[in-house]
Amino acid sequence: MESGPDSLFVTLLLLLHSSHSESERFEVLGPTDTILAVAGDDIILPCYLKPNISAEDMTVDWLNLDFKDGRVYRYQNRKIIREDQIPSYIGRTSLFEEELWRGNTSLKLSRVQGTDEGHYKCFIKAKSWDHDLIIQVLVKAVGSKPVVSIEGHREGGMGLLCESEGWHPEPELVWLNSKGVHLFAGPPEIHRDFKGFYTVKQHVIVQETDTNRFTCRVQQSQINEKMETEVHLPSELFDTTPLRMAFIVLCCLGAAGDSHVNTGDSLFFLSAGVIIDELKLQPVNLMTLPIPVAG
Ligand SMILES: *[C@@H]1O[C@H](CO)[C@@H](O)[C@H](O)[C@H]1NC(C)=O
Ligand SMILES: *[C@@H]1O[C@H](CO)[C@@H](O)[C@H](O)[C@H]1NC(C)=O
Repeated sequence: MESGPDSLFVTLLLLLHSSHSESERFEVLGPTDTILAVAGDDIILPCYLKPNISAEDMTVDWLNLDFKDGRVYRYQNRKIIREDQIPSYIGRTSLFEEELWRGNTSLKLSRVQGTDEGHYKCFIKAKSWDHDLIIQVLVKAVGSKPVVSIEGHREGGMGLLCESEGWHPEPELVWLNSKGVHLFAGPPEIHRDFKGFYTVKQHVIVQETDTNRFTCRVQQSQINEKMETEVHLPSELFDTTPLRMAFIVLCCLGAAGDSHVNTGDSLFFLSAGVIIDELKLQPVNLMTLPIPVAG
């Protein structure tokens, strides 16, 4: 074995090299629990290096693994790289750049929307080392109070339509009678808007009952939320004689304010719809009637 200044030099180089890559080694840490984000809020997806070395000269990539292409955010060569950003994230993401020097690579996401749900990867790459972390984000949005409209006489009963918008995840809509029994209804119509929020609507044909109270309930069990609207149809509405219809609807408009729990407004508009439907009157005439103030 040769021993002398040369081998000492090689040993020193090796030592220096290994201590260098040792100093680049880090772990990427963050929450292990799912993050529940409320639609419309600004949230922070925590992610940081351990040990807390500077990430200023590293590449910080944030990905949503539920999207095939593109990135949520990229920081590289001390710059924000905007190419290949998923369009729905444009203008809503940032890092805390003043925190990078101490290894804080958390992402700020503004105005959370339905399409933000997914599995996020925080990927940090240094020259000779990289590591990542995956965080699950669920988005919760409680939709609008269902709006019920009367569609008029249908197949021997009264056609009703219920609609509620702005939900995430996708909700379920059920029609109930006053005893809480599910009514057989048409197929649910579900639409997802470009922000990932769901609108649901469903038609039902109801027959006259002793109470004539019907409830449209929209519920989402994963987020444990529901919204419902009850309507009370005057039994005269089920009468198909046009003149009687007109008389009853006009009479009931005046009483809508107190006799119909929480539904005075919709009943007014709906009744208007029924009159137009049945008698071809102009809606303008109706609007001149005194509208009862819901109390
Ligand atoms: C880095 O971590 C150490 C030990 O946890 C802590 O004492 C120090 O304040 C941290 N430095 C920064 C810049 O956050
Ligand atoms: C990172 O910075 C953000 C914004 O200042 C802060 O809320 C968060 O607690 C920081 N995380 C860590 C690990 O220091």
